[in-house]
Amino acid sequence: MNPGIVTVSYIGATILFILALGGLSNPDTARRGNIYGIIGMFIALVATIAGITANIAILVGGLVIGGSIGLVLAKRVQMTEMPELVAILHSLVGMAAVLVGFANFMDPISHFAGVELTIHDIETYLGILIGAVTFSGSVIAFGKLSGKIGGNPLLLPGRHWLNLGLLVGTIYVCKMFVDQSAAGHGEGLIPLLIMTGIALLFGIHMVMAIGGADMPVVISMLNSYSGWAAAATGFMLNNDLLIVVGALVGSSGAILSYIMCRAMNRKFLAVIAGGFGTTSGSAAAAVEGEQGEVVALEAHEVAQLLKDAKEIMIIPGYGMAVAQAQHIVHEITKALRAKKTNVRFGIHPVAGRMPGHMNVLLAEARVPYDIVYEMDEINDDFPNIDVSIVIGANDIVNPSAQTDPNSPIAGMPVLECWKGKTTIVLKRSMATGYAGVQNPLFFKENTRMLFGDAGKTLDEVFKAL
Ligand code: TAP
Repeated sequence: MNPGIVTVSYIGATILFILALGGLSNPDTARRGNIYGIIGMFIALVATIAGITANIAILVGGLVIGGSIGLVLAKRVQMTEMPELVAILHSLVGMAAVLVGFANFMDPISHFAGVELTIHDIETYLGILIGAVTFSGSVIAFGKLSGKIGGNPLLLPGRHWLNLGLLVGTIYVCKMFVDQSAAGHGEGLIPLLIMTGIALLFGIHMVMAIGGADMPVVISMLNSYSGWAAAATGFMLNNDLLIVVGALVGSSGAILSYIMCRAMNRKFLAVIAGGFGTTSGSAAAAVEGEQGEVVALEAHEVAQLLKDAKEIMIIPGYGMAVAQAQHIVHEITKALRAKKTNVRFGIHPVAGRMPGHMNVLLAEARVPYDIVYEMDEINDDFPNIDVSIVIGANDIVNPSAQTDPNSPIAGMPVLECWKGKTTIVLKRSMATGYAGVQNPLFFKENTRMLFGDAGKTLDEVFKAL
């Protein structure tokens, strides 16, 4: 294809990606945003393939193999496993940047010299560095999200010094690499390998040091890193579209990390340095003393409470995703609204396991957007609420975030449902949530528990309604 047409296609794809991001910022326009993204990616793929003159068979072969694996994975994955899938996909972006970096370094027809060579070397070095951190960090995040690695932070003694040492080490090795590379083509492999090792260790250490409750920040941060890794790959391959798309992903991921930090009342650097939420032991013990009886209800009693209420707040959490209860929740909502009850949804920014998790589920069940509120919009309304119904949520409604400074979730804003008249909590057992912290909400005087899988218990509630 004519290079001019490729460039124009790239510009078109870039515009579509920007429109896609704009669309995804609002549930009303999210579907349209997705379609823009799909068209943009299709144009980008066609233009890239058509613009390549050599090795087309390898490219198409890779595309078919990679595309088929992606298709099978996406079809098989359960909604609850999406965050793990996203984490492992981020790791692939990181790995791609590392491989492209090494391929670039070994390229026998490299024509750079002088300052250009230094710039090219630094590009390659940074690309591999960011890629390796993204790769190992994402693999650990995958382990933590899937429960294969425990959620408690690994707090090595002197970990801040260790991080600083690794940083200084990479800068020193970068100088070694640039000097050796200038001495002759293909020189400098050893420093490059040393840096890759350091970067892999750094990625592991960084994510291992982060407590379970702070994982949302890590996810969005790795999202951002994967974007920068893609942008670095774009520089190495001289591909403008990859640079732009990488920068879009990198910067939107950085904004998301900022939003997540604000939602959790954390400072970004403090989260990266690790150490929040040492163990859940102290928090669990602190609550142990205050524990009283929990009051369990049957489904028909819950239905009666809902029937009598005028103001209802539904608070969904990760358990709603596990139970796939969003559809029956919508049925109940419709039934209650038909008898003029004011039903609203309160969404915590880190409910579930990925940003926007609850919004996606509710949109899938076609719950109207105008009754779905962000935490900040409705947290002051709880004193006016007759019944709050907490569906498979735990950490996001845990009052100890406000009352126990030793809690791993201390300082995290939570939905203050206990300020309403009655709270009904739907879960299967007295097990803790993701952060591993006991929840004093369950023992409060105005809390009632409805035990069982939320899909099943809500079915019974609906029938009783
Ligand atoms: P969690 O604190 O994880 O609580 C979920 C609760 O759902 C559990 O206590 C569980 O209790 C219950 N549950 C599970 N399956 C159920 C089912 N089939 N039916 C009924 N209940 C069920 O969830 P949350 O309140 O949504 O809070 C999110 C947590 O995940 C926060 O700590 C957050 O930091 C973390 N996190 C969030 C993200 C993002 S980006 N959103 C990413 C990573 C981590 P039982 O086992 O007793 O049923």
